[in-house]
Amino acid sequence: MRRDPWQGKTIVITGASSGIGEEAAKQLAAKGAVVCLVARRLEELQRVQGEITAAGGTAHCYTANLAENDSVDALIATLLKAHPEIDVLVNNAGRSIRRPLLESLDRPHDFERTMQLNYLAVVRLTLGLLPRLLAKRGGQIINVSSVAALMTTPRFAAYLASKSAVDAFSRSLRIELAEKGLAVTSINYPLVKTAMTAPTAIYKFLPQMEVADAARWIVEAIETRPARRTIRTALAFHIATTILPGPTLKTLAAFYANRAARLRKKLEQSAQ
Ligand SMILES: NC(=O)c1ccc[n+]([C@@H]2O[C@H](COP(=O)([O-])OP(=O)(O)OC[C@H]3O[C@@H](n4cnc5c(N)ncnc54)[C@H](OP(=O)(O)O)[C@@H]3O)[C@@H](O)[C@H]2O)c1
Repeated sequence: MRRDPWQGKTIVITGASSGIGEEAAKQLAAKGAVVCLVARRLEELQRVQGEITAAGGTAHCYTANLAENDSVDALIATLLKAHPEIDVLVNNAGRSIRRPLLESLDRPHDFERTMQLNYLAVVRLTLGLLPRLLAKRGGQIINVSSVAALMTTPRFAAYLASKSAVDAFSRSLRIELAEKGLAVTSINYPLVKTAMTAPTAIYKFLPQMEVADAARWIVEAIETRPARRTIRTALAFHIATTILPGPTLKTLAAFYANRAARLRKKLEQSAQ
């Protein structure tokens, strides 16, 4: 009889206290994986753990502030001690920041903080867990990124740079470690309905992916181990920007300016 590949698979997922990470943890646990939930808010992690356990799954909670190197190091030590086998690391925790560059002149810390959590923490945690992921052939790292890194969205310079760095790191990992059996997947999400997007009023006029569908991309990425999962539009703009950066960025700038004007108008109308 064939063994169920999900049974007993140990999956570390950061940012599991809300949004995409929470929903992915629930879906993965429902398949039979043992999920290690990582975030700062213990009560939220325990709530997610409680829901997973009530549904018959297994989850462990680990609090860490991934923006602090010492906290990441402590997390690595705890995970290595508690879990002799780790099959998958999902680097999902992140922060977004939307601010025009001309309003960022005295805010280099926006860039530093975003890079610290969205990129340097991913690198640190990955390096710390890599030997364990490689110990059993067939390990996998999933790095959660954004279409913004492929499409060059205005007003997101700090976020976009941090996610582009993660994408580049993912490609380096994949090319260097594929022969050791490691799969590395970048997931470049479009807008997803979560706490991250909720504060931006104009997003309610834009298409947003449901969080359950976004989480399913993580489950499917573990099943099929692709290099990237995203939407076709993002890939098309990525290719166009690579081949013809000048004209593509000019077209995109006009498109976004136009769209922003239309959305502002809609927002004003809906407030009346
Ligand atoms: N929503 C979208 O439209 C969208 C689109 C593209 C990509 N993404 C990416 O998807 C990922 C998940 O985002 P989401 O939309 O699900 O947002 P979310 O609901 O706000 O979740 C963010 C998660 O990251 C954790 N986190 C934040 N700062 C942390 C820190 N310093 N240390 C440890 N954990 C931290 C949060 O937990 P605590 O607060 O408990 O620490 C939370 O669990 C992010 O990487 C985001 O960039 C989202």
